[in-house]
Amino acid sequence: MQDCTIIIFGATGDLSRKKLLPSLYHLNAENRLTDNTKIICMGRSEGPGRCDMSQRSWKDKVVDYVSPRARGGVDEDLLADFLTKISYFHCEINEADSYSELKKVLDNPEYGFSKNIVFYLSISPSLFGIVGNQLAAVGLNKEDEGWRHLVVEKPFGYDQKSALELEEVLARDFTEKQTYRIDHYLGKGTVQNIFVFRFANLLLEPLWNRNYIDHVQITHAEQQGVGGRAGYYDGSGAMRDMIQSHLLQVMTLIAMEPPSDLDDESLRDEKVKVLKAIRPITEDIVDQHAFRGQYAAGEVNGEKIKGYLEEDDAPEGSVTETFAALKVYIDNWRWKDVPFYLRTGKCMPESRATIAIRFKKPPQELFKNTDIGDSHANWIVMGLQPENTLRIELQAKEPGLELSAHTVTMDTYESEDTKHTLDAYEAMILNAILGDRSLFLRADEVDLAWQVVDPIIKKWSENKDFIHTHPAGTWGPEEGSVIFDDSCHAWRNDL
Ligand code: BG6
Repeated sequence: MQDCTIIIFGATGDLSRKKLLPSLYHLNAENRLTDNTKIICMGRSEGPGRCDMSQRSWKDKVVDYVSPRARGGVDEDLLADFLTKISYFHCEINEADSYSELKKVLDNPEYGFSKNIVFYLSISPSLFGIVGNQLAAVGLNKEDEGWRHLVVEKPFGYDQKSALELEEVLARDFTEKQTYRIDHYLGKGTVQNIFVFRFANLLLEPLWNRNYIDHVQITHAEQQGVGGRAGYYDGSGAMRDMIQSHLLQVMTLIAMEPPSDLDDESLRDEKVKVLKAIRPITEDIVDQHAFRGQYAAGEVNGEKIKGYLEEDDAPEGSVTETFAALKVYIDNWRWKDVPFYLRTGKCMPESRATIAIRFKKPPQELFKNTDIGDSHANWIVMGLQPENTLRIELQAKEPGLELSAHTVTMDTYESEDTKHTLDAYEAMILNAILGDRSLFLRADEVDLAWQVVDPIIKKWSENKDFIHTHPAGTWGPEEGSVIFDDSCHAWRNDL
């Protein structure tokens, strides 16, 4: 590990409080931050007068953010050590003075800040350009004395065009090599496991293609509604919020070819090839490929839930989707004509993310006239969350004289003790420090993912009159099955 300085813009915001600071605490507790690594929290001080928040009161706040989230309870010694690394810096994001002041602080040998710097922009993307420009104006983007990594987080635009504009803004001051675009799904151990499962086992490779796989389902369901975020969420919707980003990323890991090595570029090259091979969904076929829905009042986990339109801040009559499903074809040798079904929804009966791979049926109905009857398809189901599970379903003869069969399963369940359950952000921050970009998105990945969904979100934005609804606590509107290619395809809701 190298010493470094981590500078968090937007340190008083939600993400920083819930994820970044607790993750840094855990990384420090695991000895992943060197003694001389320091964290500067940038924020606009609260309260009237905009006076600098005192270092002491900021540290008290950090204690409040970290303590309830510390795995296995907070350790007072580790917390005290973590606090020695933290300082608060009052920053007016638009004002040049703040940045020249920051530069002075960083250059002052008395403070001993490392010249290797991670800038974590936990702020609205509309401010990325301003911060980038200001950092560049004082030379903080230059790597003469140490490396400079800029970490940014979605939303990367709201369509392909705006994403390109955002890229142009970022590229003015930071190179692609310095830019770390976060998709926190790639930081999840269970998502990384897709890669290991596929490429550390020879057994699967011969089967992993259009000859044997009938279709693939990727589901992200969450019980939570949009809560107080309806104002933000209404401009986004499930297609942008989850499918364009996280679910297409998961799909690339399922579909990609083995990379030639584990180098970050080799890996991302393979993911890009998948995205490039996606059959375009033009506006005239959107309805065959994509479906949107919205939750109405209902019950989740025995609790009454109001409908999306009754949420505070949800615009009247909004047709923003809280449920979205997409059918994708990847036109390459491995996957031609195998549908990949992706879906996500809020206020679903369960919170879980799974990948379910259905195999084709045997070519001959050998047992048709026995008690076994029509053949069943095999499934491989990977649970990404809440648990890391893997299930292979096979047919086997039932014990006894009759020739009848039943489904048997081979299951693995990998549980981590609470002390070692990693949050995705820990992996992301650590890799941003280490300069390993394999878990981060390259600009062309983001661009291609927008290209896939752009015609859909355009068409949906033009049809403002109607959206299918479903009661909260159910698996989405039944009409969503229109995207299935085959009458025997159906969402698999259980593990
Ligand atoms: C975020 C979305 O990117 O991912 C949220 O903006 C969503 O709407 C969240 O709830 C889901 O992440 P996870 O890790 O809880 O599955």
